[in-house]
Amino acid sequence: MTGDIFGNLETLPPDSILGVTAAFRRDPDPRKIDLGVGVYRDEFGNTPVPAAVREAEQAVLAEQVTKVYVGPAGNVEFNERVVALALGPLATRLRDRMAAIQTVGGCGALRMGAEMLHAAAPDSVVHVSDPTWANHEPLLGNSGITLQRYPYYEAATRVVAFDRMLAYLEHLPPGAVVLLHGCCHNPTGVDLSLEQWAAVADVLELRGLVPFVDLAYQGLGDDLETDAEGLRLLAARLPTLLLAISCSKNFGVYRERAGALAVFAQNAATARAIATHQARIGRRMYSMPPDHGAAIVSRVLGDPRLRQVWQDEVATMVARMKELRTLLAGRLTARRPDLDFSWLTRQRGMFSLLGLAPAAITALCNEEHVYMPPDGRINLAGVSDANVDRVADAIVNVLGRR
Ligand SMILES: Cc1ncc(COP(=O)(O)O)c(C=O)c1O
Repeated sequence: MTGDIFGNLETLPPDSILGVTAAFRRDPDPRKIDLGVGVYRDEFGNTPVPAAVREAEQAVLAEQVTKVYVGPAGNVEFNERVVALALGPLATRLRDRMAAIQTVGGCGALRMGAEMLHAAAPDSVVHVSDPTWANHEPLLGNSGITLQRYPYYEAATRVVAFDRMLAYLEHLPPGAVVLLHGCCHNPTGVDLSLEQWAAVADVLELRGLVPFVDLAYQGLGDDLETDAEGLRLLAARLPTLLLAISCSKNFGVYRERAGALAVFAQNAATARAIATHQARIGRRMYSMPPDHGAAIVSRVLGDPRLRQVWQDEVATMVARMKELRTLLAGRLTARRPDLDFSWLTRQRGMFSLLGLAPAAITALCNEEHVYMPPDGRINLAGVSDANVDRVADAIVNVLGRR
């Protein structure tokens, strides 16, 4: 029929991660377990609002006297505070050559970074780890830049494929952009050691490469400082750096969409030019960022008492993640003492790859009712004292499937 402008659109397949949640919801089996979801869960299976965030939110609401737009860069105080959280004292030193903009969560920061690269150099190539978070490539690639993958994970030994990674980086042309996960690599849980970060910094510096650091889990690997060490090492040495910050996980403000993109340029004049482009990109897509999540996070970080409450809550989350890793590794080892599951305890953050064949993953979902995306990424936060034996049984049951 004429005028049916959308009539030719075909229904798309579900998103690889969001599709798992949908399949989980549809399953009527009461024993079902969701290890696919990308959010933190407490021992009751809830994703609560942290107490510090709740308190800050009430104060923000009580004191808010207007709803007029925030500026194009969003909440400038928020931008400065989250960058200071990421960079520590270095933030002050780099301030003059930084252009920061509040974004729609970490995804918005990644996309804003890609749009900036496209604006500055449309032929930009961003190299992402193989594997990487399922949304990295769609999110960045849709801005028109080119993407390639660098070796990152040694599936057989479950460690960083460091020699191969370094050899790949050593052959990149000047100006190539390298996306690095600040900590808690998604989906492998395998991070660079500080020595490896230093070696990466050497290559980036020597070859004139540009790091783009995705910091979505600061505080959820070891602690807020340790998790930022690699990033800080790069920021102290590299003349140009992009930093995408997400507050979704560590502040538990997922749906508020709080994040920031900070670009560090070679000098203050370039930083000022970058800020104008960031504002224009935002203006052309959505005009101004939302206020609420950023205002809450800024309040938490700016109030020493609330900040301490929040830090303690982050410490509780990370301790639980580590306990769950030990718990699941122990239950698996008890069932299969002939196999080594200690890698689970050496990895960091919420995710690990089970490393099972596709048929085994399908059987986990369809027969065992334990859900995860097709790559076998599990969210440890979906495990609990109550379900760990079922999870271990299910994994052991499908181990041999090819
Ligand atoms: C590696 C990584 N980067 C960025 C994000 C973006 O998070 P958000 O847009 O929800 O803040 C996520 C969320 O899952 C992630 O896992």
